[in-house]
Amino acid sequence: MNPEYHFDGQVLCVTGGGRGIGLAIARAFARAGARVCINDLAAERAQAAVAALQDEGLSAIAHVGDVGDEQDVRALFAAIDQQWGRIDILVNNAGIEPVHSILDHPLSDWQRTLDTNLTGTFLCTQQAAQRMREQGGGVILNIASIAGKSQPLYLRSAYAASKAGQVGFTKEAARELAAYGIRVNAVCPGVIITPMTERLRNDEAQMQRWRADIPLRRLGTAEEVAALCLWLASDAASYVTGAAWHVDGGKNMA
Ligand SMILES: NC(=O)c1ccc[n+]([C@@H]2O[C@H](COP(=O)([O-])OP(=O)(O)OC[C@H]3O[C@@H](n4cnc5c(N)ncnc54)[C@H](O)[C@@H]3O)[C@@H](O)[C@H]2O)c1
Repeated sequence: MNPEYHFDGQVLCVTGGGRGIGLAIARAFARAGARVCINDLAAERAQAAVAALQDEGLSAIAHVGDVGDEQDVRALFAAIDQQWGRIDILVNNAGIEPVHSILDHPLSDWQRTLDTNLTGTFLCTQQAAQRMREQGGGVILNIASIAGKSQPLYLRSAYAASKAGQVGFTKEAARELAAYGIRVNAVCPGVIITPMTERLRNDEAQMQRWRADIPLRRLGTAEEVAALCLWLASDAASYVTGAAWHVDGGKNMA
């Protein structure tokens, strides 16, 4: 439970919320009183996530769609309009991370990564901000990565470019949308224990090197990323906008 945060009656949409960090965010906000729409491209994940929350007595609906597709995104926000008639918090979390050398990176994977991670952030922000402007305010959180701010990874050029794009977009959106009472921040996790990092975490030699360079000496959990989101979306962060926040055990201190 997160008794210190109260989002009673507020409506949150989290993209890619069927598992991993997105699901932890959905659960944390729902436990703090929010009504939650979980978007995911994978229907079975979105539905299972909603069923898990409803089993706890929490308020949640699923919406299946691709955040990189404008029609799907319009349908997502139309469904939220129909269900609750408002949107208070958007978390742009859907993301993919293909692994290729630049030397033979398929253009299709490059494009798919930018469509999902960056264009999806733009499309959802546009729909949410139009509604938040009418309501007089709101909060938008973009789940970027240390890869987009301060930490080159390896063989993940499309990912890093999309995440750096999210950080730049966050600042521009914060500047423009402040006039409507909308705060926009980016969250930059380090390596977090989710299905996305399974392959990386199975490489023990690489993991030992990586952990040795983290002052807190461990990987992070999805719940620890969700905890930063709770704070950023709360009134405790009412003067905080346009920033990119590391949640990485101290690996990057800039
Ligand atoms: N796990 C980490 O270590 C880590 C670190 C830094 C940043 N991130 C970022 O956090 C976010 C979530 O990561 P995760 O580890 O939970 O990943 P994950 O792969 O476990 O979950 C991502 C979810 O997004 C969904 N998704 C993918 N493409 C989509 C699309 N086009 N439209 C809608 N949904 C889509 C997937 O079906 C999946 O359920 C991503 O943006 C990722 O880049 C993760």
